Formats: sequence, C-alpha cells, structure tokens
Amino acid sequence: MSVEVKLKDVTVNTFLKKKREKQKITMLTAYDCSTAKYFDDAGVDSILVGDSVGMVVLGYESTTSVTMNDMRVFTAAVSRGAKRCLVVADMPFMSYHSSVEEAVKNAGELIRAGASAVKLEGGTDYLISVVKRCVESGIPVVGHLGFTPQYLNVLGGYKIQGKSADKTRFILNQAKKLEEAGAFCVVLEMVPEESAKYITENLNIPTIGIGAGRYTDGQVLVADDILGKYSEFKPKFARRYADLKSVISESAKSYINDVQSGAFPDETEIFHLSEDELKEMEKIESCCN
Ligand code: KIV
Repeated sequence: MSVEVKLKDVTVNTFLKKKREKQKITMLTAYDCSTAKYFDDAGVDSILVGDSVGMVVLGYESTTSVTMNDMRVFTAAVSRGAKRCLVVADMPFMSYHSSVEEAVKNAGELIRAGASAVKLEGGTDYLISVVKRCVESGIPVVGHLGFTPQYLNVLGGYKIQGKSADKTRFILNQAKKLEEAGAFCVVLEMVPEESAKYITENLNIPTIGIGAGRYTDGQVLVADDILGKYSEFKPKFARRYADLKSVISESAKSYINDVQSGAFPDETEIFHLSEDELKEMEKIESCCN
C-alpha cells in the first residue's frame, strides 16, 4: 500500500530559493480558516499562526497569556483553510523553556495540528539546542530575533532592538547560531533598517522583517493590522490596506436598524409553507376557533 503525502506548494526550500533568486517572501498572520483561505488564494507564501492571536483575537494585553491549547486550536483552523502556502505556528510563552524534551513534544503537537513549521523567539544557547533537536526530529523551525514580544517584561516595553553596531553584531551572531542549528528562516522584528540589511546580507537563510525596513528577504504583518480590524493601536511599521473596523461596525448598525424597523427579513430571506399545508392550517384554525 502506498501512502501519498501531499506537500504544500510552498516548502522550506521555496524560502531558500527565493532568497537565492532575490524574490521577496510574503508572510501574513491568520487565525481562522476563512481568512487563511483568502490569503492562500491571494498567493501569500506563508501564513503565520502568530501568538499575536492573544492580543488581536482573544483580547489579552500581551502574548504571554497564550497557551498550547489556544495555539493547537487556531493552528488547526488555519491549516484547514491554507492548502498551498506554508503554515508556521508560534510556540507560545513557556511552551519551550522548561526542557528540550518538553519543547520538542510541544512543537510536535503544533505539527500534528497542521502546521508545517514552528517559530520560537530568542537565540540563547538553550534555545539553539531546542532548534537543533526540533530539526533532528523533522520539525522545521523559524527563529525570531530583535524585538521578541514574549520577552516584553524583560525588555521593558515595545522597544526597537539592535540600535548600535555592537547590538547589531550580537543579533547577527544569534541568527548565525540559529542558521547552524538548522532554522530555515529568521524573523527580525523592530530593528533599524541598516541593522536588518547587514544581518540579511550575512546569512544564508532568509530574513523576514516586521518593522525592519526594506532590505530583509521578506516581510510579515499581522492580518488585523493590514485589514484595519485591530484598533487598540497601529504600529508605525504596519500598513493598513482596509478599514474592517468601520465595515464591521457599520454593518452591525445597519442590521440593528433593519431589525428594529422591520426591514429585515424581507420576502427573499424567508421560508413559506406550501399551498397544501396552508389549507391544512386553515382547517385547523377553523375547527379550533
Ligand atoms: O505573533 C506574531 O504575530 C508574530 C509576528 C509579529 C511576527 O510573531
């Protein structure tokens, strides 16, 4: 019996090829099946099931409240919608820190939920050993350096990272270790454009920037930011392509008006009894009244 494993059109090799051929890699976050399908059909290379889900969908103040259970559910939903592009799932806060074994087990759970790769934040020696073991176990890994939201409390706020030559070299050093450990790509968040360019030019694996300027090998943005749905704040680096917040609230207001005025539902939106059943109803009415 032969088992056919359907690989996505976009694989880790596509990322490496795009870097070599100087084609930009496109990545967007998504958290539900239908948005994932629309992004996939639009031709995005990769969907990140980011732990930003905690802030933009679940209403938490930071990403640190997101659990493995949350990530499993959202990863499965996105994977059902994204048939072509590469789905990357974020490993949530504290799901990869207590031991390498626990980290690999949790990464495996996200692959089982439908992701093709996992992303984890940081580049310490411990994290490098996690990346190595994941890759050895068949789990592709995306690194994440620069501003790493899960370290918000340690970093003391949403601060640009790598703001000096020394700090840039430090990030490059961590990125190289991630590359050596087998990571196939690294996200660079909120670093100066010049630093991101230097890091990008000195790596063999692609960089995906968010708030990292124009010279990274690809770009990633949060879906709710590009769609104008998340209204708590708009990061400087996020470009808004739609105003879903207005679309949603205007739609809700129109619906409320239509229900209150009797304009909804109308003839096209209702079901009727057949003529025969109507006659039966009349009989019941005449016998009982
Ligand atoms: O969780 C997320 O959305 C991310 C992006 C900001 C890269 O990690």
